[in-house]
Amino acid sequence: MLEVNPFIYSHPLAPEDIIDRDEETETLMQNALGGHYVRLFAPRKYGKTSLLRRVLRIGEQTEGLIPILVDLYRVSSVADVAIRFERAYSRQLKGKLRNAIEDFMQKTGMGLSLGAFGISAKLQLGAQIDPLPALHALLDLPLRLEEGGGYRALIALDEFQDVDKVPGLDGLIRSHIQFQGEVASYVFAGSEPGMMRQLFERKDRPLYGSAVPVRLGRLTDSDIAAYVSERFVTTGRSAGEAIGPLVAAARGHPQRAMLLAHRLWAGVAEGERATLEHWRQAAAQAMAELEPEFDAQWRGFDTSEQKTMRALIAADGSPYRAAGLRRFELTKDMVRRALPRLLDTGEIERSGGQHTIVDPLFADWIAALNDGQPRLTER
Ligand SMILES: Nc1ncnc2c1ncn2[C@@H]1O[C@H](COP(=O)(O)OP(=O)(O)OP(=O)(O)O)[C@@H](O)[C@H]1O
Ligand SMILES: [Mg+2]
Repeated sequence: MLEVNPFIYSHPLAPEDIIDRDEETETLMQNALGGHYVRLFAPRKYGKTSLLRRVLRIGEQTEGLIPILVDLYRVSSVADVAIRFERAYSRQLKGKLRNAIEDFMQKTGMGLSLGAFGISAKLQLGAQIDPLPALHALLDLPLRLEEGGGYRALIALDEFQDVDKVPGLDGLIRSHIQFQGEVASYVFAGSEPGMMRQLFERKDRPLYGSAVPVRLGRLTDSDIAAYVSERFVTTGRSAGEAIGPLVAAARGHPQRAMLLAHRLWAGVAEGERATLEHWRQAAAQAMAELEPEFDAQWRGFDTSEQKTMRALIAADGSPYRAAGLRRFELTKDMVRRALPRLLDTGEIERSGGQHTIVDPLFADWIAALNDGQPRLTER
């Protein structure tokens, strides 16, 4: 029988598979029930979507909230946004409420439908539909849900930073949700700290100051170790002495921890106990798998960003140190310009005066570059 690897690293997790995040779940629930908006932010792959799904599920099961998750990843037009909202409702509404909303949509005459032939299909076929009034109607759906007998909707807008690609969209969203205090709670999740700050912390932006900030941090080593060990055991293996180096390499990064655990598990047969050799092979495989991704990411940086990252690795988080500047032919000015950009895009983070690269394996990759071993896979 084919065994299923218990470590998932390529898509959001089922609520019961999530490590920790209990406090964040509680905070999100409390705010949702209190009718407050939350902005959830974290670097890429820290588990935002997994957490949103967990909160939506708990909200539905324990509080009767109507859960709606809208993914705004890379939207770039009003039509895109209308399609994403329509499909989100289509996927998530059930039963009587679904029928009530479908009836309402039909009556608008705007081409909206929860069925297969909704506005998405019509727009793709080139129908003459103005997506703006349709989007207005979709943004008002929480009011219709309530009329349809629903309690309160919990609406999570994932990858919210991408609303900035559509001019005026944050204002449009605000103009609707501000009248929905009694019928809907909103969570805005995003991964680019700079963009999320622009949207919520600038006085001239429509959503300024409107949402409670919740940040997802790294997982603790002990939580990761316990989870990995247990899953090895329940699948008839032992993580053995590999657990220490695995946890150290992951540095609390949720997705990197799962990726490393996945590779390690795959190399250990049932009934076996992982050794350091298993670990070394797993780590090498993970790096080989990530090489194209890191290479593309690296090419996306300009020279001063590349050098700043290298200096930061070489000098333990202090890119201004003289030795680093000399070694990489970097000036303080270049660092001063590069750092905010790297912080804004979530490549690095600051804690206690130190700068850290968010992705521990990317940091290892850059360290190898500094050591004169640019091609990890060929070592
Ligand atoms: N709390 C957690 N426990 C275990 N694994 C986690 C956790 N959070 C994230 N992960 C790992 O990270 C992966 C990505 O999770 P998820 O898609 O929820 O993150 P995300 O922040 O939404 O990512 P993206 O930035 O790509 O949208 C999961 O497949 C899982 O391997
Ligand atoms: Mg996500």
